[in-house]
Amino acid sequence: MGPTQIADHTFWVGVNDRETDLFESVWPIPRGISYNAYVIADEKVALVDTVKSNSFDTFIEKVRHGIGSRGKVDYLIVNHMEPDHSGVIRRLLDCYPDLKIVGNKKTAALLDAFYGISENVHVVTDGDTLRLGSHTLQFHLTPMVHWPETMMTYDMHTKVLFAGDAFGTFGALDGGVFDDEVDVDYYDDEILRYFSNIVGKYSKMVQKALGKLSGLDIAEIASTHGPVWREHPERIVSIYDKWSAQEPDPGLVIVYGSMYRNTECMMEHVAKGAVEAGLKDVRVHNVPRSHLSYVLRDAWRYQGLVLGTPTYDAGIFPPMDAVVRLLEEKRLAKRTVGLFGTYGWSGGGVKGLRAFVEGADLELVEPVVEACCSATEEQLDSCRELGRCIAQRVM
Ligand SMILES: Cc1cc2nc3c(=O)[nH]c(=O)nc-3n(C[C@H](O)[C@H](O)[C@H](O)COP(=O)(O)O)c2cc1C
Ligand SMILES: [Fe+2]
Ligand SMILES: [Fe+2]
Repeated sequence: MGPTQIADHTFWVGVNDRETDLFESVWPIPRGISYNAYVIADEKVALVDTVKSNSFDTFIEKVRHGIGSRGKVDYLIVNHMEPDHSGVIRRLLDCYPDLKIVGNKKTAALLDAFYGISENVHVVTDGDTLRLGSHTLQFHLTPMVHWPETMMTYDMHTKVLFAGDAFGTFGALDGGVFDDEVDVDYYDDEILRYFSNIVGKYSKMVQKALGKLSGLDIAEIASTHGPVWREHPERIVSIYDKWSAQEPDPGLVIVYGSMYRNTECMMEHVAKGAVEAGLKDVRVHNVPRSHLSYVLRDAWRYQGLVLGTPTYDAGIFPPMDAVVRLLEEKRLAKRTVGLFGTYGWSGGGVKGLRAFVEGADLELVEPVVEACCSATEEQLDSCRELGRCIAQRVM
């Protein structure tokens, strides 16, 4: 794809990455990802963000097309310093040595720390503007909507909001750049997985940013990942609003681990109980076979969360422990939680799960079922009861 015009004098010069298997070296991206950057070719030429270092050649080609006969870039606006967007700044400076880099105080510190760049940096603060000609850019600081330096840039002329990582998604752009050119429903799962994996921890800051942006008249949302929201920008805003408010859907995700299927047998009964109570949205993840990225997505999606673990070395089964630490780290809250598990002698698995729930903003539902080695018939009945209880609460 060449540069695509997204508004007056404004071009998408982003790239698709279909080669990286793990985003941030941890989150699987089987559908790829796009790194979006934009050129505004006014009297002065501004570039908004760049791309990951593996895509420089494709990127610079598009930039050259985007700026056309102007042949120069005056400003690089850095909304976000994570290297998936800042990775080619040094090489860009080699191409355009007079380029002025625009960011806030925290951007400047990171520019120096990552790339040793401290000259030609123009520091802006919240609400500052930069005139390009007919376009005037306004900067809105949105700290921790992903990193401390994160900001958004609003073009007062076109009403395009260059939002950085906010409103982004995994998934490359398969031919279309705009929401009205692609099957947006196809992106829904990946929007939630991206949100929960990357931004969810900072939900409170997302809510703050949404409040701050509510005063802007926004025609298009141009994120750094995924489609440009031109037809229905309110769609992506409402999705981000919902997930950052931790307002899950009715449904249940059961996450468990099991070495010799004893804990797994209990899981089957929990799931059965939930379905018997009339709940259809039941998802099961067996770790470590299910990647944490998908577990986290479904935990973010559903109101009900049941965790099951065998005891391993006096504690939680290690892959389940990783789940619990991640949920804790990502500050999952306001969920209805059930627990079950097994032990052979002195136990520790379920105890560890309980400590996690009690330390978080989560509601624990009884019964908690714990079996020695293999569950008895009564304990399996209790697992069904747990499934029913959770289902009734989340429906
Ligand atoms: C490698 C290993 C380590 C274990 N460590 C403990 C332990 O420290 N304390 C305990 O009470 N049981 C321990 N157990 C016993 C298991 O919790 C018990 O066998 C349980 O039934 C396993 O459930 P599963 O069949 O779902 O894997 C361990 C079992 C295994 C295989
Ligand atoms: Fe980021
Ligand atoms: Fe990003």
